[in-house]
Amino acid sequence: MKLGVISDLHVDLNEVPSEPPIEEALLEVAGESGLDGLIIAGDISNDANRSLAVLQLLKERCGYPVLFVPGNHDYWSKDNGIRDTWHLYRQFQTFDGCLSERPYELGNEWVVIGNSGWYDYTMGEPDYSFDEFERMHAMDRTWQDSLYVDWGMSNRDIHRYFYERMERDLAEHRGRPIVMVTHMLAHPYFKVPMPHPQWSYFNAFLGSAEYADLYRQYGVRYGIMGHVHYRKTYADQGTEMVCACLGYRKEWRKASAVEEIRDCLQILSL
Ligand SMILES: [Fe+2]
Repeated sequence: MKLGVISDLHVDLNEVPSEPPIEEALLEVAGESGLDGLIIAGDISNDANRSLAVLQLLKERCGYPVLFVPGNHDYWSKDNGIRDTWHLYRQFQTFDGCLSERPYELGNEWVVIGNSGWYDYTMGEPDYSFDEFERMHAMDRTWQDSLYVDWGMSNRDIHRYFYERMERDLAEHRGRPIVMVTHMLAHPYFKVPMPHPQWSYFNAFLGSAEYADLYRQYGVRYGIMGHVHYRKTYADQGTEMVCACLGYRKEWRKASAVEEIRDCLQILSL
């Protein structure tokens, strides 16, 4: 079984009139890759309705499972204006490939477990205090989730919520070969390398080092993540960590979306 892995499509921000939409470019590359399933680790667009429409289109045109966890941008909802993030969380669960609290059986022993994950500031540098991270603002820059995401609880508490749901799902599938999917970073290897003047602070909003500990404990085979716009893999004891972000057009190196997606898409053979 071949599972394609990608994240951070940002179809709205990457849209240009002279080129086909990003989802069409993804369909083209998926088609030539002979996939049996596709995993998207979040940040399809800045609006839940747009992200859901893309998921529906991909599912219909691919004809195989399209699995997904929402990223922070998917919760932003810049167009529909919904600020209750739990409302959007449930809206994403109406898509049958949404992994939030719903592990997906691939039918060959493998199971895919996932949730957005969140950040708990463990990836920021210790020169900043907890209160400074809580402000989500430093060096004249604001971490935009503070404007567009409202879980009704602190970042640490929403991280804890996701962590506990993941642990429950992992415990229920103990002993099985597992692919874990988050949007946020599950391992500090993927944070922006230090020293870096801004990211010494903003790394705090990339994920949590606690997820990797959980993966070790449950022998997770693959840890898929996005968010940081890197494309790299890292072997952490028994877990192959995969970050396959398409990212923003200004970060691309190839001439077209199709070529860029070919470079980005990772394939797991399970
Ligand atoms: Fe993100």
